[in-house]
Amino acid sequence: MVAKEISLPGKLQEKLDRFQDEFWVPKERLDKIIAHFISELDRGLRDGTDPSGIPMNVAWVMEYPDGSETGDFLALDLGGTNMRVVMVHLLGNHKFTTSQHKYRLPNHIRTTRNRDDLFVFMANCLDKFVKETNPDGVPAGKIFPLGFTFSYPVTQSRIDKGILQRWTKGFDIPGVEGEDAADLMNKEIARQKLPIKIVSLINDTSGTLVASRYTDPLTEMGCIFGTGVNGAYYDRVENITKINGQLEDDIPQKSKMLINCEYGSFDNGHKVLPRTKFDIEIDDESPRPGQQAFEKMTSGYYLGELMRKAMLEGYDEGHLFIDLAKDSEGAKNLHTAYILDTSFLSTLESDETADLSDTEKEFTEKLSIATTLEERYFSKKLASFIGTRAARLSICGISAVCKKMDYKHCHIAADGSVFMKYPYFPERAAQALSDVWGYEGIKMEDHPIQIVRAEDGSGVGAAVIAALSAKRVTKGLS
Ligand code: GLC
Repeated sequence: MVAKEISLPGKLQEKLDRFQDEFWVPKERLDKIIAHFISELDRGLRDGTDPSGIPMNVAWVMEYPDGSETGDFLALDLGGTNMRVVMVHLLGNHKFTTSQHKYRLPNHIRTTRNRDDLFVFMANCLDKFVKETNPDGVPAGKIFPLGFTFSYPVTQSRIDKGILQRWTKGFDIPGVEGEDAADLMNKEIARQKLPIKIVSLINDTSGTLVASRYTDPLTEMGCIFGTGVNGAYYDRVENITKINGQLEDDIPQKSKMLINCEYGSFDNGHKVLPRTKFDIEIDDESPRPGQQAFEKMTSGYYLGELMRKAMLEGYDEGHLFIDLAKDSEGAKNLHTAYILDTSFLSTLESDETADLSDTEKEFTEKLSIATTLEERYFSKKLASFIGTRAARLSICGISAVCKKMDYKHCHIAADGSVFMKYPYFPERAAQALSDVWGYEGIKMEDHPIQIVRAEDGSGVGAAVIAALSAKRVTKGLS
């Protein structure tokens, strides 16, 4: 937060006040959103196929880990920005060790026209990793069980299959939607003759929940606040009426089933979320208009673009960057969609210098725009409005699940770049939770529902789920 308030010229101050109003989500609005969220979660458990609703994907994980699971597993985690290969050693006794390698996804892969590019890239990374971690070669006959964290909406009929419903987070590769991602991956693994077999396909939120539960039994939800947003939790089988008839008769109705909500698509019908003109434009201009409405207002993939659009409006109206010539490089940059990512807002928000010199540098480096102190102050404030709105809206999914399941004291394990790196995000989310749940006067660390950091959820979670599914196979419940 800026130590010193700076007084702005009248028009600029008016614009800032207007942005503040537009991006502020008061408690009453949060309550309304949460009420609608609860009914949408329930609707998705009855039928998740309506594109305006939440899929509530059944993950076919019916056990809670108890921390005793053991074994060595490989995990492959395809996120929105990176890909990781992790070797996880579950030691039992709530402990594990990992070794891992992170690979940056080549930019063109998100939208390549050839789906093989993606699967070949992932298999190449697996191959490299296995060779590096087994310098003397893999013992003959050894097959590594692999937990595949594929963080996109999939329909699963069993734990080691997942038919992609649709791409999210800016991915758009033909020939994968409607196909089984595990099968495509297994085929490439077989083609390259790698000593690996997929035993489970999971979502990053499921991984986060299960990995955290392995070490912390108070965990009831796993969430990602990153390139995408989503949450997972366990619901009672009796509530998931859409799987009636798909379960063995001897499974009690009170058993629990892991649900990957895919709530980034909440309010695709645009009933309750307070969309600004910028949100509407972002949706219209996206490869998938009308999809991922909640994600488009809260996830890291879109915050930079929201910021750019708001600043551009200030510029076009003649309040901001007044000296910036229309034909300048800076003006051109300001018109370039997705030129800014979330790190731009993070830099502005964490700038504590008196003359906002970090912000000045960021504007020059990322946009080639020279700024006045007033403009930097305005932009920093604007970033805080956008960041605060994302954090406040983010807790609606959590609150809806907790209210629906009657969880009043629990931990919500959170991962993702926005939660981990965006300044003040955890504090703002905790404040919004406090507004909704009435925690006023209680210190953040004593809040009954707490969002806690889940380090390395997806990798370890994939391993724990692989271990759980191995247990289940031996019990005959696959
Ligand atoms: C997107 C994906 C979802 C994932 C989330 C966070 O919403 O559809 O599967 O969990 O991003 O990565």
